[in-house]
Amino acid sequence: MKMTFPKNPQEVQYFYSPISVLFGIGAISQLGVEAKRLGATKALIVTDKGVVESGLAQDAIEALEAEGIRFMVFDEVEPEPPIRVVDECTKRLKSDQFDIVVGLGGGSVIDTAKAASVLITNDRPISAYFGIDLIEKRGLPKIFIPTTAGTGSEVSRVSIVTDEKEMVKKALFSNFLLADVAIVDPLLTLSMPLTLTADSGIDALVHAIEAYVSKKATRFSDLLALEAIHLIGRSISKAYAKGQDVEARSNMAFASLIAGMAFSSGGLGAVHALAYPLGTEFHLPHGRSNAIMLPHVMEFNLIGNAEKFSDIAKALGEKTEHLSIRESAIRAAEIVKQILNEVSVPFKLKEYDIKQEAIPTLVEGAMKQTRLFAVNPRDLREEDLQEIYQRAW
Ligand SMILES: [Fe+2]
Repeated sequence: MKMTFPKNPQEVQYFYSPISVLFGIGAISQLGVEAKRLGATKALIVTDKGVVESGLAQDAIEALEAEGIRFMVFDEVEPEPPIRVVDECTKRLKSDQFDIVVGLGGGSVIDTAKAASVLITNDRPISAYFGIDLIEKRGLPKIFIPTTAGTGSEVSRVSIVTDEKEMVKKALFSNFLLADVAIVDPLLTLSMPLTLTADSGIDALVHAIEAYVSKKATRFSDLLALEAIHLIGRSISKAYAKGQDVEARSNMAFASLIAGMAFSSGGLGAVHALAYPLGTEFHLPHGRSNAIMLPHVMEFNLIGNAEKFSDIAKALGEKTEHLSIRESAIRAAEIVKQILNEVSVPFKLKEYDIKQEAIPTLVEGAMKQTRLFAVNPRDLREEDLQEIYQRAW
């Protein structure tokens, strides 16, 4: 008898990841070996001035030199990378015979490196590729090395850039954006200043929480997201309190990595949607914008999946045995607020000099992020956005 297979793609779970992931103290020393394995002879190191000044680019350069790989440095990346910077980077790539792109930095750097690595082989302007799987050809080989513990961009298949004309974040999704190799070395995060430790760490927590409660969550993403939440709950305040705490930094670097894998497959949600306008309108860093919106969106989303919010409370270390699912779900948002206090991140808009009159503009900006609403555990109407911003204010 012939089996009839169901033809519902909703039932099929996808998991995306780079081809290889190196994690551990000193992992950056393998950059040259890995580049060589990919057949590279000349690398463009995409980074920013802060990374160069901190001396971290030197570690990458030494690893490339040890294997005789030539290189040039493009250090022009700006935060919340505008399209013009991606175009600049692509131009630099075209200017010489580079055969590999190395992205060394935070999320903005890696997102720029990702986009440039495919724009060099795909002829149309970047605007033609915003959306899902529109990039036609594979780009240059790429190795991504994060210097913060937060964005997870080194393992995701998305690149987010800022359209300065429309003042909106736009995204490219493609398997061609996945790294050939991601190198995550916790030692690179030791010199992160306090605010960056807090902001990027909370960004990772947001990735894990949003992926875990997403309507697109899978068995793969759940595993990774929950472990990331657990590790961040244990380590973010320690890493903030003592920047040289290698164990805490390692936990945060690993959590950021697996939270990146979790959201790459499971998706993000309303925290990111409501945070983006804070970046485009008020130039708050990505992690900080997410941190501000996180507890307010969690409180709104609670009823959409109380069981999973209850799991989050437990993963964050809360004793939940004596609590009902509803009670422990509510605790999840409270513990998040406690963590934000511990790492000195205010989560009220007015504390950032944002006026109440700005709320309609924020609502308008967030309304453009419908792809994120689709997987959020609770539907969002315009009046809901209004209310969440109002509470956040
Ligand atoms: Fe993020």
